[in-house]
Amino acid sequence: MWKLLHNLKQTFFYDADREFYAKVFPESVKEVDLLKIRKMDQADMAEVLAIENCNYEFPWSAGVFDDCFRTLTYTCWVCIDHQDCVVGYAIISAIIGEAHIMNISVSPAFQGRGVGRKLLNHLIDYARPRAEKIFLEVRPSNPGAIHLYRSVGFVEIGIRKGYYPAKDGREDAIMFELDLLRPLP
Ligand SMILES: CC(C)(COP(=O)(O)OP(=O)(O)OC[C@H]1O[C@@H](n2cnc3c(N)ncnc32)[C@H](O)[C@@H]1OP(=O)(O)O)[C@@H](O)C(=O)NCCC(=O)NCCS
Repeated sequence: MWKLLHNLKQTFFYDADREFYAKVFPESVKEVDLLKIRKMDQADMAEVLAIENCNYEFPWSAGVFDDCFRTLTYTCWVCIDHQDCVVGYAIISAIIGEAHIMNISVSPAFQGRGVGRKLLNHLIDYARPRAEKIFLEVRPSNPGAIHLYRSVGFVEIGIRKGYYPAKDGREDAIMFELDLLRPLP
C-alpha cells in the first residue's frame, strides 16, 4: 500500500515538475517527454483505427482490436498528448515467460519524434518482470522499424516465410528477439 502511494506520489510530482519546466523553460523539456502512456480503452478506438488505417496497407479491423481487449494475456497501450489525443499505440502479449509485440504504431504526424522509441521502451519495461524474452515480426520492407528494434537490442532470429499479405502475394517476416535476462549494456 505504502509502495503504491509512493509510486503515485513520484509520478504525480514528476509529471507536475515536467509540466512546470515545460511552461517556464520550454527548451528544457523534450516534446516526447510530455507525452504519456496509459492503457487503451474502447473510447480510444476511433483514433486508434484512424492511425492503423493510415499506417498499414493491410490494417487490423476493429474486430481484431476487440479480440485484443478480450484476451487476458494481451495489454493494449496508447501514447497520448496533453489533450488526451492518441499519437500512437502498442499491443503486447505476455504468457509463460514469453512476450510478443503484436502491434506498434505512431500517427504519421508524430513519426520520427521519439514516440515509437518511447512506446517500445514502455513495452520492454512492462515485459521485464513478466517474461524472459520478447519476440516480434517485422516486414523486411520496413527499415525504420527494423532500425528502431535493433537500436534497443533486438536481434534477428529467423524468417517466417510468406507471413504477411502483400500487394503481389505474400511477404516474409523477419523474426526478432530481445533477451530480457541479458544484462543491460
Ligand atoms: C516504426 C514506427 C513505430 C517508429 O516510430 P517513430 O515514432 O517514427 O520512431 P522514433 O521517432 O521513436 O524513432 C526511433 C528510431 O527509428 C528511426 N526511424 C523511424 N522511422 C524511420 C524511417 N522511416 N526510416 C529510418 N529510420 C527511422 C529513427 O531515426 C530513430 O532512430 P535514431 O534514434 O537512431 O535516430 C513508426 O514509424 C510507425 O508507426 N510506422 C508505421 C507502422 C509500423 O510500421 N509499425 C511497425 C510494425 S513492425
